[in-house]
Amino acid sequence: HGPAYLDASQPVAVRVHDLMSRMSLDDKLGQMTQAERAAITDPADIATYRLGSLLSGGGSVPTPNTARSWADMYDGFQRAALTSPLHIPIIYGVDAVHGHNNVHGATIFPHNIGLGATRDPRLVERIGDAVAEEVAGTGVDWDFAPCLCVARNDRWGRTYESFGETPELVSSMSTIIDGLQGRSLSSKGSVLATAKHYVGDGGTTGGVDQGDTELTEAQLRALHLAPFQAAVRRGVGSVMISFSSWNGVKMHANGYLITDVLKKELGFSGFVISDWQGIDKIDGQDGFTAEEVRASINAGVDMVMVPYDYVKFLGILRAEVESGGIPMSRIDDANRRILTKKFQLGLFERPFTDRRLTGTVGSQAHRALARQAVRESQVLLKNDGGVLPLDKRGQKIFVAGKNADDIGNQSGGWTISWQGSSGPITPGTTILQGIRDKARSSAVTYSRDGTGIDGNYDVAVAVVGETPYAEFMGDRPAGMGLDAEDLATLQRLKDSGVPVVVVLVSGRPLDIATELPGWDALLASWLPGTEGGGVADVLFGDYNPTGKLPVTWMRSAGQQPINVGDGQDPLFPYGYGLRYRGR
Ligand code: GLC
Repeated sequence: HGPAYLDASQPVAVRVHDLMSRMSLDDKLGQMTQAERAAITDPADIATYRLGSLLSGGGSVPTPNTARSWADMYDGFQRAALTSPLHIPIIYGVDAVHGHNNVHGATIFPHNIGLGATRDPRLVERIGDAVAEEVAGTGVDWDFAPCLCVARNDRWGRTYESFGETPELVSSMSTIIDGLQGRSLSSKGSVLATAKHYVGDGGTTGGVDQGDTELTEAQLRALHLAPFQAAVRRGVGSVMISFSSWNGVKMHANGYLITDVLKKELGFSGFVISDWQGIDKIDGQDGFTAEEVRASINAGVDMVMVPYDYVKFLGILRAEVESGGIPMSRIDDANRRILTKKFQLGLFERPFTDRRLTGTVGSQAHRALARQAVRESQVLLKNDGGVLPLDKRGQKIFVAGKNADDIGNQSGGWTISWQGSSGPITPGTTILQGIRDKARSSAVTYSRDGTGIDGNYDVAVAVVGETPYAEFMGDRPAGMGLDAEDLATLQRLKDSGVPVVVVLVSGRPLDIATELPGWDALLASWLPGTEGGGVADVLFGDYNPTGKLPVTWMRSAGQQPINVGDGQDPLFPYGYGLRYRGR
């Protein structure tokens, strides 16, 4: 019968050893190379260059952008990969960070900051399970999630990708890894998870994205390494390196933290992938050099997310191995790690999309789970005079605000496109629609800027906050207050004398202490995703809010960074959250 590596009854270690004994140097170097799908002009190049992996960057989608079209795209790339002499399948990665968020029609769950507010690790595990089904249903085998960043400065544009500001809370949510990877990687609907970004991405000075984390090793370990220890214990299959630096040293070239700490001390046996052009940034100049390839691979990076000029990368990598700049033992270690995951995923036996799962994309069951997550993520911060919960009947409700009727705004970044965008970008229920669905026999009026409000209304609900952003585009080094449009809307409502309920749709706490006294109620909604009905469930009391702040809420932006235990006086403390009384 055929070679041992194709015999699924053999132990994975035996299969890896047999396969590697048959691989040429080019086969091995190719496995360490990841290309963006858009860089593949001719699928035959996948086999020609022996590429081990492809990815979709944020918003890099097939046309049409449907689950079926994704599955066909994936299978096309995989068929091309399998024409290589040893028929080694590719592993395909995407950022499914709050649902399979690149795909039109997929279920969009609350971003991690809202999941942190739920304090419900079991719910988060179930979300991982659902996301993995939708991802696998499109062929994709690998999810660049969860971000296990500990957001210490809310100015950081990726604060919403964090489960919260304490390592304990973030570690508790590593259950999502069990949901994504399943009981075993080869089981149906399992995908490889990625603990990212290693390490200290949420601790940079000033909250500058890709900045410098200036901490002692003891502080770095206590605050930022702990969640990765939890992830390794759960068997996370991959780790992505952070763009940021630790005390001035780029993480992508940090052999001590990647090899000595992550791989040896923590015993991480999966594989390490660089971030997007992460090795290019080691020298602070555009493009990657032989020095950067050598530094990152020798530091312990196993696979490089090039992701465009993979021919140049392979040329440099080969030259470095031939010159001895990179030892063959490092190449073999990287291949062993990568191939072990491919065998464990069952990619050699089942390289193509499991079409039984394609129909789960955006399914009612997953949307119901997402709505439960939305309910549990809402944090009630103020409720003077019991203005909440609203009445479903007999109330005249006035709804205003730019985030009331906007799926894009309530989903935030990493939705359909990398940065996300306003508007009806994917099917879902806006918060306004959720309110209308609830208040069947109450009158609901909507006016984005509040024009038309008068004393005849019983209550005004203003849904305000941030518009979508991702990564460094979301850094807020200056003010952290509401924008002019929201302030004008709120003023109009306040002038009417009608009680005002504010629903804040944002990726982080905002600087609202000055305006707060004019509000009767405040609900932190975070970035709830497509199931805005969950916000209405809380507004109308069908769910008594249980959410607790995952991050300290500043009294003013000047307090940043502000975190539990730092002795500062916040507007609302970490862990704060009100319930409806007498229920
Ligand atoms: C991005 C992000 C990372 C993501 C990767 C691929 O720049 O830093 O979180 O997984 O590139 O999209």
